[in-house]
Amino acid sequence: MNNLLCSALLISVILILTDADCKNGGILVEENGTLKCNCPPNTFGDDCNCRYKFTNVTFLEPDHYGESAGSDSAKCDENCAIDTRCSTSTMLPSGKTCYHYETPIILVTYDRDEDKCIGRCNEMSECKTFGIDTGMNSACVLFNVTLDKIPDKMKRAYQTFFKAGEKICE
Ligand SMILES: *[C@@H]1O[C@H](CO)[C@@H](O)[C@H](O)[C@H]1NC(C)=O
Ligand SMILES: *[C@@H]1O[C@H](CO)[C@@H](O)[C@H](O)[C@H]1NC(C)=O
Ligand SMILES: *[C@@H]1O[C@H](CO)[C@@H](O)[C@H](O)[C@H]1NC(C)=O
Repeated sequence: MNNLLCSALLISVILILTDADCKNGGILVEENGTLKCNCPPNTFGDDCNCRYKFTNVTFLEPDHYGESAGSDSAKCDENCAIDTRCSTSTMLPSGKTCYHYETPIILVTYDRDEDKCIGRCNEMSECKTFGIDTGMNSACVLFNVTLDKIPDKMKRAYQTFFKAGEKICE
């Protein structure tokens, strides 16, 4: 291809890309035939309008208030569903015990990977705060309220192996 044609092609591609409506610095990309906006680093959301505000003062890893015998995660969910205090439950990795958690906790997993934990919060619109323990007791805990609304009994003194963040969408 000659240079002129090549530049003309490039310019038209740029025009198409800048013409589309990506907000807040998002860049339009094509993925499997559909167009989507890739958000700048550390932002996400349909309009790239969300980010996390991290805190290094609180360790959010609430204890379960109760447990039940579980043979699998379906049974565990069932046990939680019939317990009015239970907002979410999770099977211990041993696969024998089902831990019950109360509101404002909406999800507990044993992820140690921070990106995975944050990804779960990104995907749940009701998730407002996450806490992840990357230490010995790996855990990812999601809450449906902002940090200031999380009861004190669910908070502990900060530890370096811990990370917590509030989702801010504006
Ligand atoms: C796009 O298609 C490829 C191949 O089918 C698939 O592996 C990939 O996950 C798809 N990406 C998205 C975002 O759907
Ligand atoms: C928390 O972060 C602030 C600001 O980045 C820093 O000044 C402070 O030393 C940190 N505290 C701890 C306990 O790491
Ligand atoms: C959080 O989720 C619980 C159910 O798990 C619900 O009862 C409560 O109203 C929710 N709170 C907010 C602020 O959405």
